[in-house]
Amino acid sequence: MESALDHLDHYTARALLEWQMELGATETIGDAPVDRYALPDEAPWLARRAATEQPGTPVAPAPKADPVAAAHAAAKSAASLETLRAAMEAYEHCELKKGARKLVFSDGQPGSRVMIVGEAPGREEDREGRPFVGRAGQLLDRMLEAIGLSRAENVYITNVLPWRPPQNRDPKPDEIAMMKPFLERHVALAQPEILVIMGNISCDAVLGRRGITRLRGIWTQGLDLPVIPMFHPAYLLRNPHLKREAWADLLELKARLDART
Ligand code: URA
Repeated sequence: MESALDHLDHYTARALLEWQMELGATETIGDAPVDRYALPDEAPWLARRAATEQPGTPVAPAPKADPVAAAHAAAKSAASLETLRAAMEAYEHCELKKGARKLVFSDGQPGSRVMIVGEAPGREEDREGRPFVGRAGQLLDRMLEAIGLSRAENVYITNVLPWRPPQNRDPKPDEIAMMKPFLERHVALAQPEILVIMGNISCDAVLGRRGITRLRGIWTQGLDLPVIPMFHPAYLLRNPHLKREAWADLLELKARLDART
């Protein structure tokens, strides 16, 4: 009998396996015993492909789409945040999508003066489909509250990557490059006055450089906007002694906002 598993490609199968391991699976045992001697030599999808091809017909390699060019085209055609979200849902070039449960697009108030750019969703964000809802997100909310900001009222939040990387690994340079056109369009459509970029991945995507310890707290320019890099809240959870610097950066942000009201 044909099953849905016959149609899995390598990446989907791998993402499913990693997900099960994350849930605690340590062995691969099926519900029923399998007589491997009775199985066909080839995977069913290979047999199907062979049956549809004429013997001797050379198989032309599928033309490779350029993921960055495809992202530029898709992002450019989005005229609103809703259509941008739909364009990202439809984008098929990022392998991370296959292992993620949900697209994490944004949270907060579009049109706010402050837009925060985080790195990538973690486990909780992947489950809920909203950025910064785990422990780091709770710390972020407290940090914002300390200077009179909140996502309910006056902050808009997104991430460089909308899909959770497996085991929360760092995004790869090609993944950042292919999602950057979407981020650029996201910022243009949300029209913030100021960008707050949290952590090295966000600095890489927005400024093209890393080194958050040197960059933090210093105003610069990125995506045609004033940008302030800050330590990522997850980094602050692991390094609580750096909260003093984070507080200084928050005050810097507040001073800029107050000066321009
Ligand atoms: N870290 C991020 O950078 N973004 C999230 O949404 C959650 C954790």
